[in-house]
Amino acid sequence: MIGTANGVRVGITGLGTCVPERVVSNDELARYVDTSDEWIVERTGIRERRIAAEDQALSDIALPAAEAALRDAGVDGASVDLLIVATVTPDMMFPTTSAILADRLGARDAAAYDLLAGCTGFMYAVAQAYGMIAGGLARRALVVGGDVLSKILDWSDRSTLVLFGDGAGAVVLEPVARGGFLGFELGADGAGGEHLWLPGSGSRRFEEPDSYVKMNGREVFKFATRVMVSSATAVLERCGLDVADVDVYVPHQANRRIIDYAAAKLGIPQERTIVNVDRYGNTSSGSIPLALADARADGRLREGQLVLMTGMGAGLTWGSALVEWTTNGSGASGAA
Ligand SMILES: CC(C)(COP(=O)(O)OP(=O)(O)OC[C@H]1O[C@@H](n2cnc3c(N)ncnc32)[C@H](O)[C@@H]1OP(=O)(O)O)[C@@H](O)C(=O)NCCC(=O)NCCS
Repeated sequence: MIGTANGVRVGITGLGTCVPERVVSNDELARYVDTSDEWIVERTGIRERRIAAEDQALSDIALPAAEAALRDAGVDGASVDLLIVATVTPDMMFPTTSAILADRLGARDAAAYDLLAGCTGFMYAVAQAYGMIAGGLARRALVVGGDVLSKILDWSDRSTLVLFGDGAGAVVLEPVARGGFLGFELGADGAGGEHLWLPGSGSRRFEEPDSYVKMNGREVFKFATRVMVSSATAVLERCGLDVADVDVYVPHQANRRIIDYAAAKLGIPQERTIVNVDRYGNTSSGSIPLALADARADGRLREGQLVLMTGMGAGLTWGSALVEWTTNGSGASGAA
């Protein structure tokens, strides 16, 4: 799917994040599996990640992220009429985590649902929220991307354990006077689904059911380096823009090598590329909002800048968006 904005300006007017307190270093993981800080840093760029407490579920980190995003936009939960939570680790299948959040935030008039698109979930959810607002169905959306993948990892499997972390981010989307989303490109390749999957997690019966993530790292690496480039190129072309126009590149934070490859192939210099995989690992749907928040905190994300975001992950799925960053939503303060 590829498309440009239909003239209705919709932007991100609030941004908030939350990560669990516990920091787990590579050295700590080396106590559980046969790995080393040196191997993990060299092959992935990851130095540490946040891991949820035993009694912490997705909504426990998604709620503070959502509250921070609403505060940032200067609006309250009651004004939200669409709430989407992108995740593969909801508190439970139902009630959905979005319904739980809607209740906690006082979003009584909101349509609320969870969305499953692997690590691309945040990009898919933002595109949906954009479409519903641009189409006149919703006025103000809260999109949360977050995962607590530590709960579905096999803590004795070094090939997956070292890559992932827990975290959540949230954004408020609403009509804006200037800037906003310019276009999206989203896709899926189910034929590659078995390279990153969670067999035994749904209605399909398996001989040996398994409730842990399984991954063919090399295949996912090849897929990732391909789609990170093709998706970004496609959305730029469709919007009539060039890679030189991109001020801030926010790639999914899966692996430093994948990010460096994509940025180099696209021709985006390092100083415009946001990287925080070293501190959080791959937080799945939390990755892009966490990176946006870091970019804003270090002064790289400002009013009027062209931001390119690209996610990819299980499905296999991918998705890109181009947005002219704006701070002029209808709320009191707007995003700084
Ligand atoms: C997983 C990944 C880091 C592995 O890196 P790689 O350079 O491809 O490494 P390889 O798979 O070739 O493995 C090299 C060796 O390291 C070993 N190894 C794998 N994981 C290891 C770990 N955590 N610690 C130490 N050694 C490890 C392998 O067993 C292999 O050993 P062998 O040569 O004796 O068989 C890389 O393939 C990757 O990032 N893939 C994408 C994963 C991803 O991003 N998934 C999420 C997408 S949303």
